[in-house]
Amino acid sequence: MIDKKFTLLIVDDEESVVSSLKRTFIDEDYDIKSASNGMEALKIVKSMRIDAALVDLKMPLMNGMELLDNIMESHPNTMVVMLTGHGGISDAVKAIKKGAMDFIEKPFSVEGLLVRVKQIYKIWSLKNENIRLREKTDTNFEFDRLIGNSTSVLKLKELISKVGPTDTSILIQGETGTGKELVARAIHHHSIRNTNNFVPVDCASINESVFENELFGHIKGAFTGAISSTDGLIRSADKGTLFFDEIGELPLTTQAKLLRSIQEREVRPVGSSKSYSVDVRIVAATNRDLKKEVEKKRFREDLYYRLNVLLLEVPPLSERISDISLLSNYFLDRLKTGFTKVSEISEEAMQYLERYNWPGNIRELENIIRRGIAVSSQKMIYPEDLPEHVTGNEEKNSYEDGEIVSEHSLASYEKEAIQKALEICKNNRRKASVLLRIGEATLYRKIKKYDLDSLK
Ligand SMILES: Nc1ncnc2c1ncn2[C@@H]1O[C@H](COP(=O)(O)OP(=O)(O)OP(=O)(O)O)[C@@H](O)[C@H]1O
Ligand SMILES: [Mg+2]
Repeated sequence: MIDKKFTLLIVDDEESVVSSLKRTFIDEDYDIKSASNGMEALKIVKSMRIDAALVDLKMPLMNGMELLDNIMESHPNTMVVMLTGHGGISDAVKAIKKGAMDFIEKPFSVEGLLVRVKQIYKIWSLKNENIRLREKTDTNFEFDRLIGNSTSVLKLKELISKVGPTDTSILIQGETGTGKELVARAIHHHSIRNTNNFVPVDCASINESVFENELFGHIKGAFTGAISSTDGLIRSADKGTLFFDEIGELPLTTQAKLLRSIQEREVRPVGSSKSYSVDVRIVAATNRDLKKEVEKKRFREDLYYRLNVLLLEVPPLSERISDISLLSNYFLDRLKTGFTKVSEISEEAMQYLERYNWPGNIRELENIIRRGIAVSSQKMIYPEDLPEHVTGNEEKNSYEDGEIVSEHSLASYEKEAIQKALEICKNNRRKASVLLRIGEATLYRKIKKYDLDSLK
């Protein structure tokens, strides 16, 4: 972006003006184009990127004002400076209202013009620098959103920055809620396609009958109700990334249609006799073991190999326990509102979170933190603000109220520990809960559960 040349178009019917301008800028690092009338200028504007244009107001065929209208309509970012005749101030004001950035009165000195053009160049490069910086921070932003310092996440990030810029198809495999979509977006942001669209296709929700229509689009009148034509998802991802989410859910017949389109790099809208070529990078995600699906003949082998040029596996949360506190605090920060007092997660609550097995992975953690913020009325999220299945489902399975605790079960140790703590703390439950590093409410629940009330 930044190393592109500054392209300046000079539109003037006086040959002497054009040649003197060209001569002036010949040593500069500008790409100078010229046109002697509005029509010619418009052709140039339509065929290439023009960063700035010096436009004479009075020209044959199409005057400067009309040309300005045309440029503003199709390329509103082009910086246009009008060259007006002496005393043409009212025209100049009119032009600025239409979107011109400045005007220069004729006749002008070459030095004066050089100064003005240099100013335009400076504005242009600043604008460019801003765009570049924004793109860079956006990329980091996507990466920053992929929270985690565990070895597996660091490896994943490294891989994303390596394979992102290539154009290979990537298959992302991982349990539900592990962040597959986030990974797909990060891949897109690390590719040269990142200024174009990232288009997700939810394969689980697109049913077979509308698949072609959704993906390939249709022409006007293709079927009743098709009052206008549509591009479809594939064409809207042209030059960008097409993300097939839950690809394993795609029915076999649809898989065949998709494969054909991918192989031919073409899309034929429903009802059309014409095909359009497309240039998309394909990223797909699944929570199934796609190879097994192939073995079971539920997924086409040829499509599998097309998609799986590179496999990225996103590890389940239970395999990156060291990320749990980082993620929890990140969600707490992101989800807390101005109305809540909560600003921390208590140590005991964190211990529960780190011990839990997370079948719903990061999405489940996000929901639990959201719930914790809503439930807690204090400064911290305590164990009692977590759902029961997080703080004590294991005991529930092994020990029901009144049931005899077998001698070496985990529950029996827990019961004993609580008994001891209560003894030491002379039945002061608050102190006992601190000693046991669990929340007071949790202790109450466990006392009831193990029938230790009688100690009171
Ligand atoms: N490493 C991470 N850092 C921060 N947020 C994450 C991370 N991984 C996942 N998330 C968040 O968790 C939620 C679930 O992630 P995502 O939708 O990407 O999961 P998924 O693997 O596509 O799940 P599913 O298979 O159910 O569609 C999202 O809100 C996402 O932003
Ligand atoms: Mg998903």
